[in-house]
Amino acid sequence: MAIVTTHELTQQFGATTALDRLSLEIPAGAVYGFIGPNGAGKTTTMRILTTLLRPTGGEAHVAGYEVTRDPAAVRAAVGFMPDSFGVYEGLRAWEYLDFFGRSFRVAAKRRVALVDELLELVGLAHKRDAPVMSLSRGMQQRLSLARAMIHDPQLLILDEPASGLDPRARIELRELLKELGAMGKTIMISSHILTELAEMCSHIAIIERGRLLVAGPVERIMRSVQAHRVLDIRIVGDGAAALAWLRAQPAVRAAELMPGDAPDRDTLTADFDGDDQAQVALVRGLVAAGIGVLSISEARNNLEEIFMRITEAAP
Ligand SMILES: Nc1ncnc2c1ncn2[C@@H]1O[C@H](COP(=O)(O)OP(=O)(O)OP(=O)(O)O)[C@@H](O)[C@H]1O
Ligand SMILES: [Mg+2]
Repeated sequence: MAIVTTHELTQQFGATTALDRLSLEIPAGAVYGFIGPNGAGKTTTMRILTTLLRPTGGEAHVAGYEVTRDPAAVRAAVGFMPDSFGVYEGLRAWEYLDFFGRSFRVAAKRRVALVDELLELVGLAHKRDAPVMSLSRGMQQRLSLARAMIHDPQLLILDEPASGLDPRARIELRELLKELGAMGKTIMISSHILTELAEMCSHIAIIERGRLLVAGPVERIMRSVQAHRVLDIRIVGDGAAALAWLRAQPAVRAAELMPGDAPDRDTLTADFDGDDQAQVALVRGLVAAGIGVLSISEARNNLEEIFMRITEAAP
């Protein structure tokens, strides 16, 4: 079941076409990576889905409600984390959340506990009484995420939540999003830094100049874009012999021997051209050839590379 569907969504800003008949479908429960270069139309799409902007053409439904016909119902279903954090002079972290709790009419009794729960969830309990302007960028991002969840929405729309974060804060954000996914939230997250989305998204859509280039489950997209797979094969024993065997296989386009993590271990990397059945046959063949296979894994391929290929191919 889809929680978001857009049909030929179009946004004109004067002569600029920010969105050009964009049709998307976000399955409930997905972590949906929304990828595109600067100016592609990511923020515009998100602003339409959160009712902040009225599209000039097409339709968008969120949780079954059309964004222009039922904006109040849409706002109840969605939490938005914008790409910038406003200025809130003098407000403390808890007051900030309390303020938004009030504006979403969370009952006073519930609000006190809710604010503390959310601060706990985003790892800011220790900053409860700190002025929001004194928080670091990463902390402000997390506070902004807590704010987006104040009315317990089904869908979270996060506009570049990882931008400006240091590597550690990125990892923490990723863990937090995993937790939210496990809580059953649907998450739409935008980025142009693709590698940071690769591991956490179940689905991705790539847009460019307001047009959808490709969308679907992350595995399927990677497969359709990348004709071959990269296999990492860890073995014990004679690496050179294993390499020679691999290179003799018709579906192996190229193979390399990498240093292993122990003296008697080696890792081989193979560019493999076959489908699932061919891969199964390769595994059988390795074992039958007496090669001491420890493990075989498909290298998670580099979304960045895919992105470059897709955008190059676009007219
Ligand atoms: N309010 C506006 N008035 C006029 N043009 C706008 C407005 N908002 C966006 N645009 C234009 O629409 C296009 C899409 O912008 P948008 O902000 O959606 O891109 P984006 O994918 O979010 O980019 P970024 O990665 O830089 O955040 C751009 O050409 C932009 O200049
Ligand atoms: Mg943007």
